[in-house]
Amino acid sequence: MKTNLIVFGTRPEAIKMAPLVLAFKKDRSFNTKICVTAQHREMLDQVLDFFDINPDYDLNVMKPNQNLYSLTATIIEGMKPVLEEVNPDFVYVHGDTTTSMAVGIAAFYSGAKVCHVEAGLRTFDRKYPFPEEFNRQLTGKIADYHFAPTILSQKNLLQENIKNNNIIVTGNTVIDALLFGIEKVNSTNFKDNEIEDLKEILDFNKKIILVTGHRRENHGEGLLNICSALKQIAENNKETQIIYPVHLNPNVEKPVYELLSGIDNIILVKPLAYAAFIWLMEKSYLIITDSGGIQEEAPSLGKPVLVTRDTTERPEAVEEGTVLLVGTDTKKIINETQKLISDAAYYKTLSMLHNPYGDGNATSRIVNFIKEI
Ligand code: UD1
Ligand code: UDP
Repeated sequence: MKTNLIVFGTRPEAIKMAPLVLAFKKDRSFNTKICVTAQHREMLDQVLDFFDINPDYDLNVMKPNQNLYSLTATIIEGMKPVLEEVNPDFVYVHGDTTTSMAVGIAAFYSGAKVCHVEAGLRTFDRKYPFPEEFNRQLTGKIADYHFAPTILSQKNLLQENIKNNNIIVTGNTVIDALLFGIEKVNSTNFKDNEIEDLKEILDFNKKIILVTGHRRENHGEGLLNICSALKQIAENNKETQIIYPVHLNPNVEKPVYELLSGIDNIILVKPLAYAAFIWLMEKSYLIITDSGGIQEEAPSLGKPVLVTRDTTERPEAVEEGTVLLVGTDTKKIINETQKLISDAAYYKTLSMLHNPYGDGNATSRIVNFIKEI
């Protein structure tokens, strides 16, 4: 029997690995163990709760305002005893976080085959996003098998001389998770306190603008520009309500609360659990974000997205027209938002339903591939 070790550490990795965890745990032909680095703590635990995942190992590495040096070193060291005990045939890592990169290195040292889920996304600029582009390229070098979400990501990997036989175009598991999540949230017996609280504070006669942001390269000036745009949008458009679940990174939390507290149509809340967040995305008129995962989810829900970045490793939805790159230029964010609020025809062109990132079957393609090795 082959042994799988699935490892993740942050909120988005947990969401996107959850369908794989559930599928492999159900499949009796594999011995599957789960390890979390807990690069995130509260934001990871929210996801584990929703998908009912109990990790076999928890490195519990998160420190307040952690830095990349010690985070990387602690994860590599922490993985050694886990890899020695589990002795996996396959180690699965996801995407572009420090967890993915550091676990990839540790897994390579252990001799396991490294399986990279969400492989091949590229901006080809190592500074954007930082350090994620580099993490993803490095993990691509380490990996034995590359689960590419789209044809474009497959092409990127082929350009780097990765063998076509080792690249499997699967779609993104984010869509598998989203479909599972929406079905659960909409089921009649699902009750959720966060959703009930949101119903109390939101006014659905207004246009809801959902905002998130956390990218390291936007810390400082970029984030100040975004906040300044949000403030002006709120002041100029009393018929809108801005809701911003604020990331727990102190480099985000502090300036956002300082600049945006006390404005009557801006609501700042703690990060929402996945259930409440996808419920809220469906209710939103428009999303402003620098998140990778949200750029992938929103087109499936027909929600226009303004991405507060200059470049993206997910250009598919930009090309299809549901996602617009606005950078961190205050004027540009205000102008594009204003246009979407007041120009119904323009809004319609950006709110078409698209599904460039997957069909909900990425997980089964990954499982089937591994079964046939
Ligand atoms: C990390 C990833 C980024 C990913 C993002 C998703 C890296 C280098 N960065 O960025 O790629 O897009 O997660 O959100 O891998 N914190 C808490 N509780 C939590 C989570 C974070 O308090 O549950 C605070 C801590 O002070 C922590 C800080 O946020 O030290 C930063 O966390 P970290 O994972 O280093 O960076 P993120 O900005 O979250
Ligand atoms: N998300 C969530 N609660 C929030 C904000 C986001 O559950 O308050 C989910 C969202 O649906 C998406 C993922 O978290 O699946 C994105 O995570 P994040 O933006 O932190 O990271 P990124 O995708 O940029 O790496």
